[in-house]
Amino acid sequence: MTIRHFLTLKDLTSDELSTLIARAIELKQMRNRGELYEPLKNRVMAMIFEKASTRTRVSFEAGMAQFGGHAMFLSSRDTQLGRGEPVEDTARVISSMVDIVMIRTFSHESVETFANNSRVPVINALTDSFHPCQLLADMQTWHEKRGSIQGKTVVWIGDGNNMCNSYINAAEQFDFKLRVACPKGFEPDADIVAASDGRVTVLENPQEAVTGSDLVVTDVWASMGQEEEQRERLRAFTGYQVTPELMDLANSDALFMHCLPAHRGEEVSASMMDDPRCVAFDEAENRLHAQKALIEFLLVP
Ligand code: CP
Ligand code: NVA
Repeated sequence: MTIRHFLTLKDLTSDELSTLIARAIELKQMRNRGELYEPLKNRVMAMIFEKASTRTRVSFEAGMAQFGGHAMFLSSRDTQLGRGEPVEDTARVISSMVDIVMIRTFSHESVETFANNSRVPVINALTDSFHPCQLLADMQTWHEKRGSIQGKTVVWIGDGNNMCNSYINAAEQFDFKLRVACPKGFEPDADIVAASDGRVTVLENPQEAVTGSDLVVTDVWASMGQEEEQRERLRAFTGYQVTPELMDLANSDALFMHCLPAHRGEEVSASMMDDPRCVAFDEAENRLHAQKALIEFLLVP
């Protein structure tokens, strides 16, 4: 049997993704009813973290425990990976002992190399290029609040970063229109935009982008690994803060999403985080349910 990995949203078909979102909603309801569902007794997930995390670590670890399995936290600081052991060797060793692997790292190529040398499914838990797990949670959240996202207009405001790239993939997989508003020099990767079948428009003006939209999304201006650019980025992104006033240009039932952590006063105002249109904390909770659906999809026949 070929092993399935989840390195980007494109590793699943549109139909598989829709089924997975529906299953995430079901798993959430089961948990809310207090129903025990333990399909992964004695199964182990290795969680490799080369960058910090709150939501990703807690959601994967809790999800595996709720499924009756176990998750093992491996920081690159404390493993031989951090001392230069090749990714290929690490993948062979770890995947010979566990059932599934989750990796958060810098270069996307590292995750691909790991997957190419792994005997078990590998999940991308964020690289510099993509954050597909967050999109599962975001799509679940939209679905719960508003139904199908097909044909809707989504706006990405700010940095053309890993989250933005995953939104571009989502536009294709979930069939919505995406407007990306970012300052010159911070646009998403042109090849990723070009592969989106014309669903993505890149512009500079946030007001123009938000007008008449259904969902507005933003993220930090300096991602993990870009700490030294923080000051320069603060200057470059002036005028790109999402506020209730900016949201007022969107459709009256529009929602606001943020993958968190949020930097109030930078990419988002404090008032926007408290606004009833903000569903960031639902997205955060849905990381748990959506990833449980993903783990089940990858491991339970
Ligand atoms: N949104 C997200 O991935 O959060 P963490 O960095 O806390 O895992
Ligand atoms: N773009 C952010 C997302 C954090 C969840 C980063 O990569 O740091």
